[in-house]
This record gives sequence, C-alpha cells and structure tokens, in this order.
Amino acid sequence: MGREYRVAVVGATGQVGTLMLELLRERKFPAREIVPFASERSAGREIEGVGIVRALTEESIQGFDLALFSAGGSTSGEWAPRFAQAGAVVVDNSSRWRMSEDVPLVVAEVNPDALAHHSGIIANPNCSTMQMVVALKPLYDAAGIERLVISTYQAVSGTGKKAVDELLDQSHALLHDMDPPEPQAYAHQIAFNALPHAGSFAPGDDHTDEERKLMGETRKILGDDSIRVSATCVRVPVVNSHSEAVNVQTRDHLSPERARELLEAAPGVTVVDDPSQAVYPLATKASGSDDVFVGRIRRDPGHERAIDMWIVADNLRKGAATNAVQIAEVLHERGLIAPRGARAAA
Ligand SMILES: NC(=O)c1ccc[n+]([C@@H]2O[C@H](COP(=O)([O-])OP(=O)(O)OC[C@H]3O[C@@H](n4cnc5c(N)ncnc54)[C@H](OP(=O)(O)O)[C@@H]3O)[C@@H](O)[C@H]2O)c1
Repeated sequence: MGREYRVAVVGATGQVGTLMLELLRERKFPAREIVPFASERSAGREIEGVGIVRALTEESIQGFDLALFSAGGSTSGEWAPRFAQAGAVVVDNSSRWRMSEDVPLVVAEVNPDALAHHSGIIANPNCSTMQMVVALKPLYDAAGIERLVISTYQAVSGTGKKAVDELLDQSHALLHDMDPPEPQAYAHQIAFNALPHAGSFAPGDDHTDEERKLMGETRKILGDDSIRVSATCVRVPVVNSHSEAVNVQTRDHLSPERARELLEAAPGVTVVDDPSQAVYPLATKASGSDDVFVGRIRRDPGHERAIDMWIVADNLRKGAATNAVQIAEVLHERGLIAPRGARAAA
C-alpha cells in the first residue's frame, strides 16, 4: 500500500475549506486522518463525517504531513510557518506568501514543476489569476504573450460567506420594497450594481490589490516578467463563479482558429463557443465544475496579433479548493510530501 498522510485543513468551516474537505474525499486523496481547524469561535463544533473542529495551538498543530490553508492572510502569516516548522507541507490559499521568492506559486496544469523546490510552503494563486492562466498557458507556449488587457466580473463568494449573505439580504430587501441593509463587505450596495473596486486600494495606489495580483501572479506563474498587464477588476452581483473578458496580444501571429484548437486540447479547459446559438461560458453553468470554460474566441479587430476571449470558472473550486487538492496530489505523486530537512537528506 502507498503512503497515507495526516492532513490538516485550516479554515475548514469556510466556503473554500468546506470544499477542500469534500474534494479530498471525492478525489480519494490518500489521507489516513483529516483534522479540521478554524477559529476559536468554531472550536469544538462537529463537522459531519470529518470530526471536531480544533483551534490552532502549538500542541494541536504537531504531527501533520500536509496542511491545506484557507483562513485568510493573517492566519497564514502566523501559522503556515509553524506548521512547516512542525514538519508539514503547507498549501496556502491566501495572498500572504504568493509573491515570496522561495514560495512556489502553482497552478496544477500550468507549472507543476515549480513544486520540486518548495521549502515547506506552497501558494495557491488568486482565483481570477488561476482561471486565466489555465487558458493562457497553451497560447503562451504556442505564440508567446506580449500584453493582456483584462476586465473581470467577479462573484461575491470570492469575498467570503458574509458577502454572499450581504448580496442576498440586500436583494431580498429591495425586491420587497424595503431599505437594504447597510453595506459591510463592500463600500457600496452590491445588489443590482457593479463595483469597479474588487479588492482594496493600498494608500497611494490607483489599482486595487486584486488588479496587482493579476499582474504579479500571472508573470510569476508563466515565468515571464516581460508580459504587460492592464486590469480592471469589477465586483458584480453574481453569487459564484468569476467571468473575465481577456484581450491577449501574442508575440507571434496566432489565428483564433488555432487558439481554439489549442484550448480544446488543453488540460482543465472546456471550450464553449457557438455565440450565434447563444452558446458561451456562463457563471451559472460553471458553478460546481472543476474546469475553466472559454468562449467568444475571436480576432481583436483593433490589432492583428490580438485575440479576445471570455473565461469563466468556479472561483471556489478551480479558483481555490480544487487547485489546492490538485497540488496535494502532485506532491504525493512526486514524493514531495516531506519536511524540508528530510527531502534534502533523501
Ligand atoms: N472565496 C474565494 O473565491 C477564494 C479564492 C481564492 C482564495 N481564497 C482565500 O481563501 C481564504 C478563505 O476564503 P473563504 O471564502 O473560504 O472565507 P470564509 O468562508 O469567510 O471562511 C474563512 C475561514 O477561515 C477561518 N478563520 C478565520 N479566522 C481564523 C483564525 N484566526 N484562525 C483560524 N481560522 C480562522 C474561519 O473560521 P470560523 O468559521 O471559525 O470563523 C473559516 O473557516 C481566504 O484567504 C481567501 O482569500 C478565497
């Protein structure tokens, strides 16, 4: 029998954590034990079929082989290094470690080889970057990429459970002629609105951190700092699945027909592209699937080396939980689940 691991899921009561628990079981990850962790608020609560939620303490984090984190940047900042120190390999969903030089930023179909040199912490990319690079990789390999112009239409589940409740509560109130509750998750009402403000503005920056992530993470994952990226990230009143309009300016000539062929053959991509029949990727259809859906593939009439496309994926699945579990699978297949010292000595 192959190796079986003791796995911690940190943020197990959240949207992404709940899905990671499901996917570990669904995809039959070789776990001999899965232990759920969350905040003090949830400690002691039972997750059916999994076990009692634990709080993070120096004692409770000992003895794990693998830890999948989705509990926000500050929890990862504090606890991911402690898990790694205690011998676990950490796969982290937050933005805390993504741009650190010694932390691989990995999309399973795109750059799995980057895992070979991990030092105990591996980062899962931002959801909007993740789905985009799965679709860009085959085009990048065939023709190079000079510049990307991206507009996102991001679902509220990307902000967390509270934002989903906020959209539903505001919509309910407005549909019943009541005053909507004051916005908490966003600066403005999200129901029946579009906010050109996905993420937050750091002091002095005219781009949101979400837009900066698209720039930096895309270059890191594709390993090409020369790619120019222009991004506008918009939050829309969609519960789940992000949509993106992406203009891809290639280095070499690439026809839309060839791009479609490449995308049809690409792992993790489903082409849905018959616009005259109203067939194209939709957030409602992508939700619940692990694939990245691409359609509206066409020549940009404004540039002979640019292609436009529409990319949609479930931000909680491929954008977060699925990729984290796929990374765990690659780590297992390649014998990379071992503490840093042990791997160096092996
Ligand atoms: N949503 C997305 O599309 C998406 C995509 C990519 C990455 N991510 C990242 O994944 C993470 C979680 O997102 P989510 O949508 O699942 O959020 P969520 O539904 O709000 O869940 C947050 C989880 O973190 C736990 N948590 C909060 N503070 C904690 C603490 N101090 N110690 C331990 N656990 C703590 C919560 O536990 P309690 O239930 O006890 O509060 C809960 O389990 C975030 O870092 C987010 O940036 C999300």
